[in-house]
Amino acid sequence: MSAQRQKAHAAAAALDYVENGMTLGLGSGSTAEIFLRLLGERVKEGLDVRGVPTSQRTADVARENGVPLIEVDHVDHIAVTIDGADEVDGHFRLIKGGGACLLREKIIAHASDLMVVMVDESKLVDTLGKFPLPVEVDPFGFSLTAGQIYEALRKAGVKAPDVQLRRKGDGLAPLITDGGHYILDCACEAIPDARLADQYLKAIPGMVEHGLFIDIARVVIVGEDTEARVLEL
Ligand code: 5RP
Repeated sequence: MSAQRQKAHAAAAALDYVENGMTLGLGSGSTAEIFLRLLGERVKEGLDVRGVPTSQRTADVARENGVPLIEVDHVDHIAVTIDGADEVDGHFRLIKGGGACLLREKIIAHASDLMVVMVDESKLVDTLGKFPLPVEVDPFGFSLTAGQIYEALRKAGVKAPDVQLRRKGDGLAPLITDGGHYILDCACEAIPDARLADQYLKAIPGMVEHGLFIDIARVVIVGEDTEARVLEL
């Protein structure tokens, strides 16, 4: 069965966390976009919600589907953020940023009362790190920052990190995030101590934000072939 179908089951189950009157954080990525389409159908039926998008792309998809948006700086409370992830471990720690939106995703998820994560089964892992960890950095001095990120990951127990600048589709120009930053993808194979990696990475000037989400998600919805499994911390 396709990952796409599993994502659709997870997105449908995530609607159960949406209530009338809520302000929602709207995640980014293909699963989040399926959710937006389903949410748009509910809005057409009369559901009253507004969303804070975590990327320009999400804002566009929300508008196309009739989901009302609100400016992030006009919001003082976000009830639930609903987003996808690249990896999830047994402690609900995540790797995010495959879509280069991790900074805005983390700002919105951290400010929300609840983060609900929707994934297909392939995203569940015992140890984070098979998916290269995205790290958002300032373009100024990024190669110096990359060296420090390598050292930080080594100190955190990653055996041989490989830090690569993410490039646009043409393969030449650096990809620029919605916030005007670069992404460094750090192939780790395994991150044995995500908390330590978080601590060392945060100490690096030029490191804007990294894709480890620790102690943020409280609900993980795993899409399966015929239904969705809801896991709550
Ligand atoms: C974007 C993300 C996405 O949530 C993550 O990449 C998962 O994407 P998809 O739902 O397409 O599998 O973190 O920055």
